[in-house]
Amino acid sequence: MSAYFVTSTGTDIGKTFVTAGLIRYLREAGQAVHALKPVVSGYDPSVVETSDPAVLLGALGRAVSADEISSIAPWRFRAPLSPDLAAAREGRSIDFAQLIAFSRKAIDAETGILFIEGVGGIMVPLDGERTVLDLMAALQIPLLLVVGGYLGTISHTLTALDVLAQRHLKIAAIVVSESERNPVELDDTVASIARFAHGTGVIGLPRLPGGINQHPAFAKIAALL
Ligand SMILES: Nc1ncnc2c1ncn2[C@@H]1O[C@H](COP(=O)(O)OP(=O)(O)O)[C@@H](O)[C@H]1O
Ligand SMILES: [Mg+2]
Repeated sequence: MSAYFVTSTGTDIGKTFVTAGLIRYLREAGQAVHALKPVVSGYDPSVVETSDPAVLLGALGRAVSADEISSIAPWRFRAPLSPDLAAAREGRSIDFAQLIAFSRKAIDAETGILFIEGVGGIMVPLDGERTVLDLMAALQIPLLLVVGGYLGTISHTLTALDVLAQRHLKIAAIVVSESERNPVELDDTVASIARFAHGTGVIGLPRLPGGINQHPAFAKIAALL
């Protein structure tokens, strides 16, 4: 069994895109793969197909049904806000112990590779006192850190690495997913981050046209898992 928590320096960076691409690559290589997206905000039940759980289910080759979505993404909130605020809008809250228990159960049951996609960035609040960082620290599984390729990403990434090191979290790989507007060469960003990453593998994933997530970079990321 190996389980990885997919986190990033912010929202809309590429966590789902990278996870879906990896799932496709690993399945084609004959590996058993499973994925969870326990907490989703900005979930609109009328356009389910583009939601993170639907994208992950599609990559897993599973049906995008209400039951399947509930099984991998139990905490869904409508407002496109941080989960604590999105939950509060609905008079709800996230039970942190239940969230850990849900994730832990899947980690313990998994016989193949499991990806747990976080929500937003590393320190997005889940409730009034805990963030995604506390969830990652509780689960103690290696991280897949997805960062952007935009100008400014190096500082964001190094700040994230410092915070993760303070909590003794292991990083399996850092993926630089090229951003839409990007005045910086992807290879230069990868090389800069690698210089500060203390030996952690850093893989660059170019902006792929049409959202097709097939690229040799996925094999390189998979080799680090
Ligand atoms: N390397 C890439 N090539 C093409 N599109 C990408 C790439 N990385 C991210 N995207 C696109 O950018 C958007 C945000 O990515 P997403 O994976 O949903 O971010 P996150 O899960 O971190 O919020 C999505 O539309 C996704 O398809
Ligand atoms: Mg996502």
